[in-house]
Amino acid sequence: MKYCVETFDLTKNYRDFSAVDNLKMKIKNKGIFGFLGPNGAGKTTTIKMLTCLTLPTSGTATVAGHDILKNPNEVRQKIGMIPQMVSLYGDLTVKENIHLCGDFYGVPEDLRDSRADELMEMVDIKYAENKYVSQLSGGMKQKASVVASLIHQPDILFMDEPTIGLDPTTKRILWDLVEELNSEGRSIILCSHDMYEVELLCDDVGIINRGVLAAFDTPQGLKDTMIKERKNEKTSRSSNVTKIVDEIQKEASPEEKASFDKIKDYVEKKNRDSMELSVMINNLDENVLSHLKNLPITYEITKQHSGRIVIDMEDSEESVNQIIASIIENNGNITSISTKDPSLEDVFMKVTAKKEEVGEE
Ligand SMILES: Nc1ncnc2c1ncn2[C@@H]1O[C@H](COP(=O)(O)OP(=O)(O)OP(=O)(O)O)[C@@H](O)[C@H]1O
Ligand SMILES: [Mg+2]
Repeated sequence: MKYCVETFDLTKNYRDFSAVDNLKMKIKNKGIFGFLGPNGAGKTTTIKMLTCLTLPTSGTATVAGHDILKNPNEVRQKIGMIPQMVSLYGDLTVKENIHLCGDFYGVPEDLRDSRADELMEMVDIKYAENKYVSQLSGGMKQKASVVASLIHQPDILFMDEPTIGLDPTTKRILWDLVEELNSEGRSIILCSHDMYEVELLCDDVGIINRGVLAAFDTPQGLKDTMIKERKNEKTSRSSNVTKIVDEIQKEASPEEKASFDKIKDYVEKKNRDSMELSVMINNLDENVLSHLKNLPITYEITKQHSGRIVIDMEDSEESVNQIIASIIENNGNITSISTKDPSLEDVFMKVTAKKEEVGEE
């Protein structure tokens, strides 16, 4: 099986509002898929349809190779679900809830008990196994929910914002668990607003906006596309202005021509291919700065409040080496250095903003 989930024009309407609109998406089997989108974009609605908790208005999907409309019971046997809102029984203990889930899926009692113990140890909730769920903290409830969803060893695990509100240590326990489950060959579908989490874990990412799939790629692929788009935008901005100025210049006097050349220069400079390098030098002085400014590859250097400098410079393979060499030659002591590539958050903002503009029309 190549895809663990494949949707075919999957649609969910609430009255005349389309929460999920003709969604066509293929999620690789045995991977970790990040499902992103702004609040209200349609993530939970999609997950609810894929886990057979709600029926689509039209279209369908296959999950683990089974059609959600024709074979919902087969789908349910193959999947686990960690919902956005924990849905355990408050008047039962952690252990009772987990056992109930195991029984629901027909897991034999001895296997159920040993798995429950192992999983509770793994996510560090065993100490609270006899507490009533209504008396647990939010993070403890989430851990209990994770164990309950895994008791029948599902092939595909849907996680709807599983780490929201968790402390950093508990988050890491969950991330490790996701990686471990995936290394056992299980597919994970993870809804999240945490870009760090998504970059850390996910092989592929889909961004949904207003019920429509707005982008789908690997995290690096999405960033590379954005870098290319930015470059293209700059080039076309620059050439458009140059064309207009050239036209006007035809009619201009020699003195006016000089001013127009200045405009063209300015536009070209503003839109040239450049990259940004952020450098922390713990003994930064005028000597280091002026040598950097005099390098032909540097365009602009800004000193930040923190003492860090941001260098706008030529985008070429050798540029970074030349900057480092110049700083070292002038006895500058570099303590940290990074390029400022677009982040997944930048991609998210761009993709979701772009679609909003289209929707607004
Ligand atoms: N039962 C319902 N009745 C009417 N509208 C609904 C219902 N459930 C969801 N919606 C609407 O469908 C849209 C998508 O909601 P959904 O919960 O799928 O968003 P989401 O992407 O999961 O958002 P979040 O990041 O906030 O969890 C929202 O506009 C929501 O108000
Ligand atoms: Mg949601």
